[in-house]
Amino acid sequence: MTNSSDRASDKEKALTVVVIGASGDLARKKIFPALFSLYSQDLLPAKTNFVGFSRSDLSPEEFREKLREHLACRYLPRELCGEKMGSFLSLCHYVPGQYDSADAFLDLYQAMRGIEDEDQANRIFYMAIPPSLFLDVSRALGASGLVSCGDHLQAWSRAVIEKPFGHDRASSDELVAQMAQIFTESETYRIDHYLGKEVIQNLIVLRFANQIFEPLWNRSYIESVWISFDEDFGAEGRGGYFDRYGIVRDVMQNHLTQILALVAMERPRRLDAIEILNEKVKVLRAVAPLKMEDFVLGQYVGSDRGGVRRPGYLDEESVPSDSTTPTYAATVIRVDNDRWRGVPFIVTAGKALERRATEIRVLFRRSEENLFKIDGETPPPNELVIRVQPDEAIYFRTINKVPGLRMRLAECDLNLRYAQAFSGPVPEAYESLILDVIRGDKSLFIRKDELETAWDIFTPALHEAARGARKPEPYEYGSEGPEGALELIRKFRSV
Ligand code: BG6
Repeated sequence: MTNSSDRASDKEKALTVVVIGASGDLARKKIFPALFSLYSQDLLPAKTNFVGFSRSDLSPEEFREKLREHLACRYLPRELCGEKMGSFLSLCHYVPGQYDSADAFLDLYQAMRGIEDEDQANRIFYMAIPPSLFLDVSRALGASGLVSCGDHLQAWSRAVIEKPFGHDRASSDELVAQMAQIFTESETYRIDHYLGKEVIQNLIVLRFANQIFEPLWNRSYIESVWISFDEDFGAEGRGGYFDRYGIVRDVMQNHLTQILALVAMERPRRLDAIEILNEKVKVLRAVAPLKMEDFVLGQYVGSDRGGVRRPGYLDEESVPSDSTTPTYAATVIRVDNDRWRGVPFIVTAGKALERRATEIRVLFRRSEENLFKIDGETPPPNELVIRVQPDEAIYFRTINKVPGLRMRLAECDLNLRYAQAFSGPVPEAYESLILDVIRGDKSLFIRKDELETAWDIFTPALHEAARGARKPEPYEYGSEGPEGALELIRKFRSV
């Protein structure tokens, strides 16, 4: 994202990308397809190899066939596709092994020595495994001699891990401290894949490359900010994971808090990772920790809407029948600084709702002195809508004269639809993030202090919830969410 990286020497040096957990969903559906997209655009170093490691007992051929199922030629003409896929797959190697077996990591070591024809290849260890395995695997990698460390060495090793990082501030601190014994902070890339999404990367550009926003981007002109994450599917098939975390840890503490930081932060002094991350940390530190009473929590129940039977959360296999894990949460976050004091950030996240959309809505203040009226009323306030997905878009709701001989006003959108405005596919978040790992650009990754501040906001409420302080409100699969949340939304929408 920033201009700081991409040392030419890194492009010339050999690179090995080791994907731990290579036969799992994340690796097959996201990581390898992203690696292939980068490969097919010649964005990887010329001598790049890919090594999958996981527990599945697969031959290299079987592994490649599994990978092939999810590869797509998004950036290549059809006629070049088969050949490029074939050459990519020929660079993909596989080593089966248990995560707690020192011998298996020695096998991996041997395999890599055979593949890397240079003594000093750069290495990325992408851990596409449950967080409970991060530490053991890191230690095993360290013990087997695969992680070269120290600035004096010619080649680097980088570890990529993905949330959840712990389940509260203390467990996250513990994980960070233990991992640091193998991979230093500068070698650790903590992914929040939302930061790799195009529209999220555009937030900083929209805000700071356009002069019109900065003068208005404060409490004098902004009434409220809405950050919403709606999914139209439940915990299907992921009940075991989801029940340990719940929607606040799964989506709010990370994806939505990151969005809030980018919307609310001050202008960084320069476009480099340190300055951007410093500003994000600063604004998150201005958020007071939330209490349980600040939340509306919900859990979806089965429904027959539209004649289709949808299961409730408690019907999910591997979800205990008395689970009180929330699948919906709404809260109001206050940023206590001069720019935002008094402006509510209404943050909502839910599974099994009526639609799928992630949006940021910036609602501007209504002016009572407006010269114009619509149906005798002051026109509705302007609103900037930034739709992260689906159908990436940014539009600005404004009041305009409807063409005609009478003065008639209507609310219309100034409209930027990505699909119409920009040619070519919108890159997948993982493509952008993996490329940044190779370039050593950390601006889109979660720094240690950022993780700490994000946990500080949510930990007190999560601990209260763990004491059984509240049962979530039921809401129907396919509905707008729990009634309590709709009330909260109505309250702030009507101000
Ligand atoms: C993940 C969460 O981080 O993000 C999932 O664990 C959620 O529960 C997913 O469904 C949403 O990601 P995306 O990119 O599909 O919006």
